[in-house]
Amino acid sequence: MTRRLAPSVLNADLARLADQVQLVQEAADWLHLDLMDGHFVPNLTFGPPVVAALRPYTDLYFDCHLMVANPVDLLPALAEAGAGLVSMHVEALDDPARALAAAADHGLAAGLALRPGTPLEAVLPWLDRLDLVLPMTVEPGFGGQPFREDVLPKVAAARRALDGVERPVALEVDGGVNATTAPRCRDAGADVFVVGTAIFGADDPSATAKAFRDLLDLGDPGGLGT
Ligand code: DX5
Ligand code: ZN
Repeated sequence: MTRRLAPSVLNADLARLADQVQLVQEAADWLHLDLMDGHFVPNLTFGPPVVAALRPYTDLYFDCHLMVANPVDLLPALAEAGAGLVSMHVEALDDPARALAAAADHGLAAGLALRPGTPLEAVLPWLDRLDLVLPMTVEPGFGGQPFREDVLPKVAAARRALDGVERPVALEVDGGVNATTAPRCRDAGADVFVVGTAIFGADDPSATAKAFRDLLDLGDPGGLGT
């Protein structure tokens, strides 16, 4: 199984975004970008123009987490901006099949994310056409929240479900992932680790990102399918 580290810049110094990314890019597989619209979640971050502005500064694969009410509307601009994968919240989608097809039409890999209270069953019908499942381990919207232990059984259930699918589907965790909780997520079967505050809140984000690679026994850095 390929395990990946995806630093999240949500709580980095966003005024120096490109510099912050360059601090961690050698140790990262993906860069996790949190798009929020102030409707789906009570916070507002950035949209496709910032993703596009960042694109020339790094070769990292862009893992875009769309915490927005109308994620399908953003897909053309995100494809144009150089996104790799887009995770859409299943709670925001009337028609997940149509949303996943729209992502594919734009050449984007696609994931479905779930709030902590959303049962795994909400994404099970779509596993054969997904690239990633993201059971959130905090309520989406803000970095720096405590890890939700109660989501670990859902991570483990997702692992079991994905093991029965022929298509390779990544299992990502996001929220409160740190040196203590990341190994527990790994043991539950997660293979993509989004880490925000534990990296960008550290004195040395670069060394901390490298330490996560050792901690989680990650291989050489790489993008989806590598
Ligand atoms: C929260 C975001 C996360 C956030 C995680 O809604 O989706 O990606 O950056 O930050 P930490 O690691 O601080 O919980
Ligand atoms: Zn996120």
